[in-house]
Amino acid sequence: MIKITKFSDNCALLSSTILNIFDKNQKSVIALPTGKTPIDLYHNLITQTKAKTVNWNSLIIFILDVMYPQKVKDPLSYDAFIHKHLLNNINLPLNNFYILDSETKDPENECANYEKNINDAGGLDLAILGVGKNGHIAFNEPGSSFESVTRKVKLTDQTRITNGGIDKIPEYGLTMGIKTIMSAKKIFLLAKGKSKTEIVKNAVQGPISTDCPASILQTHPDCTFFLDEEAASQL
Ligand code: GLP
Repeated sequence: MIKITKFSDNCALLSSTILNIFDKNQKSVIALPTGKTPIDLYHNLITQTKAKTVNWNSLIIFILDVMYPQKVKDPLSYDAFIHKHLLNNINLPLNNFYILDSETKDPENECANYEKNINDAGGLDLAILGVGKNGHIAFNEPGSSFESVTRKVKLTDQTRITNGGIDKIPEYGLTMGIKTIMSAKKIFLLAKGKSKTEIVKNAVQGPISTDCPASILQTHPDCTFFLDEEAASQL
């Protein structure tokens, strides 16, 4: 069953919860999302990092997904996003950061390697997710198999529009699969605002179906949704 935690404090609670997990573990392997929703979380993590000593050396970060094909230096790329909102402000060793290569000529091999890197790191301890209005987690759009692993996927027009526009955003993405995400020991999903109310209700209380990829989280043994008032208003 999905646990629900409500917040009204720009992610301070979630950020402390995450930092407590880092404190307890000698090493943590975490998957991180992009999108508008986690920006406050990243700002909070940076602020809390400055206030107390966080040992980023013991963290290994895997970014959930990228758009494909896309120049890494494209200002709309997820690489640019995560550098701007998190990496430029923390002392994470370079070797502890993984993101799929959005310029690769061999996406199949790139995705297989990503799975291997996650396994070699010891598997995901924590996956932090956002959710798309259509229920996608990472770039696992509706219809994605619950058995899927990291792979190249076609993005829906809606997803391309939300990410910056059909003219600016490529047709494909490289994404961790649903099985990859579900293999994390712990999952936090973050959702804010009216536009997520309906999909949050579907994900938490609706049928478990590939029509709403986030609904599979109902079967995860340790999954918490962090929601603001609006996103939680139909639960
Ligand atoms: C993108 C990302 C997802 C993210 C979703 C929600 O498509 N690939 O990982 O969860 O959008 O984004 P936002 O937080 O901006 O609503």
